[in-house]
Amino acid sequence: MSKQPTNLTTSWGAPVGDNQNSITAGSRGPTLIQDVHLLEKLAHFNRERVPERVVHAKGAGAHGYFEVTNDLSAYTKASFLSEVGKRTPMFIRFSTVAGELGSSDTVRDPRGFAVKFYTEEGNYDLVGNNTPVFFIRDAIKFPDFIHTQKRHPQTHLKNPNAVWDFWSLSPESLHQVTILMSDRGIPATLRHMHGFGSHTFKWVNANGQAVWVKYHFKTEQGVQNLDVDLAAKIAGENPDYHTEDLFNAIKKGDFPAWRLYVQIMPLEDANTYRFDPFDVTKVWSQKDYPLIEVGRMVLNRNPENYFAEVEQATFSPGSFVPGIEASPDKMLQGRLFAYGDAHRYRVGANHNSLPINRPHAEVHNYQRDGALRSDSNGGGSVYYEPNSLGGPKESLAHKIAPFEVSGEAQSVAYDHHDHYTQPGDLYRLLSEDERARLVQNIVNAMKPVESDEIKLRQIGHFYKADPEYGRRIAEGLGLTVPQGE
Ligand code: HEM
Repeated sequence: MSKQPTNLTTSWGAPVGDNQNSITAGSRGPTLIQDVHLLEKLAHFNRERVPERVVHAKGAGAHGYFEVTNDLSAYTKASFLSEVGKRTPMFIRFSTVAGELGSSDTVRDPRGFAVKFYTEEGNYDLVGNNTPVFFIRDAIKFPDFIHTQKRHPQTHLKNPNAVWDFWSLSPESLHQVTILMSDRGIPATLRHMHGFGSHTFKWVNANGQAVWVKYHFKTEQGVQNLDVDLAAKIAGENPDYHTEDLFNAIKKGDFPAWRLYVQIMPLEDANTYRFDPFDVTKVWSQKDYPLIEVGRMVLNRNPENYFAEVEQATFSPGSFVPGIEASPDKMLQGRLFAYGDAHRYRVGANHNSLPINRPHAEVHNYQRDGALRSDSNGGGSVYYEPNSLGGPKESLAHKIAPFEVSGEAQSVAYDHHDHYTQPGDLYRLLSEDERARLVQNIVNAMKPVESDEIKLRQIGHFYKADPEYGRRIAEGLGLTVPQGE
């Protein structure tokens, strides 16, 4: 017996008389403007899209939980990390960076790894990648960098000339370029890759003592990558391969999981460490700062609705909770502005009141009104501060940990310029097979570059990381390493 369907209604709730035939003058039309259901249906359809994310447009999301496995309350007062066994609901969105919303999943690109923890003290967003470092280390270079990753303004094609021109003139990118061009540049699935907070963050404990931390999510599925030819084939045949894999794994109860670890650096070490620990193009040695387990993240529920949950999800590196604060990392500092601004443009001023973004903690503040305010908007409660009406008040205990700043204000470069040791170490760590594939991937990516000057400049960087690395790429491109490199 089939279920009796409910009445189809307009968006204002009135029953619809006919959803298959417009109101026309006789059977051969024209259509009457009084068909308000038709007008509303067409007009709403025209407005179905919000702007896609300017980066990380293609993504897949899942719900899950985070469970503490190690008590690190000596280092942070963050309540969701306060005791072993404590569980916090979370939502994750994985993404590629450069492609558009409909682009292929199995391309060579970093993968976004954005986690929203719905803690009892507000949402904590950790908006990282599947790589521990980034291409640049100052936010002021980000729009230019992304322009080189996107399409040429005239041809609307991807442009390897711009990519390698920028990278060759920004040698701080070498570490991330080496990771990107290695086997890890195309993960087998979203489940088979690690995640990183990438930046250095500050943890503060209940006594106000602070440390620097870096986050590492280690996949329990193991790291697996895709062979380049297979990836290209899949990109053509099933551009949504990673999205589908994640959805199906969770649907059949094969819940992916990651262990979260941190590296912890005493505050004062930052002054004497052998490079600037806030430089996001560098990793901290795990010999100096070993991984310490924090907890386990398990993804166990698919979104019910892609647009409502994945597309409208808004993650911001600035969404901190008490016990977790910013570091002076110049990229992070820029990101603290960029995301909220993007969300207000892409989703709207009230994006945090949408179900996917709404904190599980109660929200009490004096923000009112704005487009698409869909909750009670504070009702008749007090709407200004200071007030003598018992409105919500700040809690001094939650001020940030004070810190000293010094130096002359100026546009200043980093004071460390070794862009070569860490990529060179990474190259030397690879097996011969891995090196051969890395070199081949780079050669293939650089071949279309029209200018030998760009190629030679970039080869010079590979050479400085490791002479063999540079030589092999030069050979692959039929060039010789410039004398004096
Ligand atoms: C998304 C800006 C660096 C990871 C975005 C978005 C913007 C942005 C505007 C789109 C946000 C939205 O529409 O919801 C920037 C700027 C950066 C920067 C200005 C440098 C100053 C980074 C770095 C990482 C990163 C270093 C990783 C370590 C992500 C991720 C997303 C994203 C994962 C997607 C978030 C989601 O799934 O909604 N970025 N970004 N970004 N960015 Fe960045």
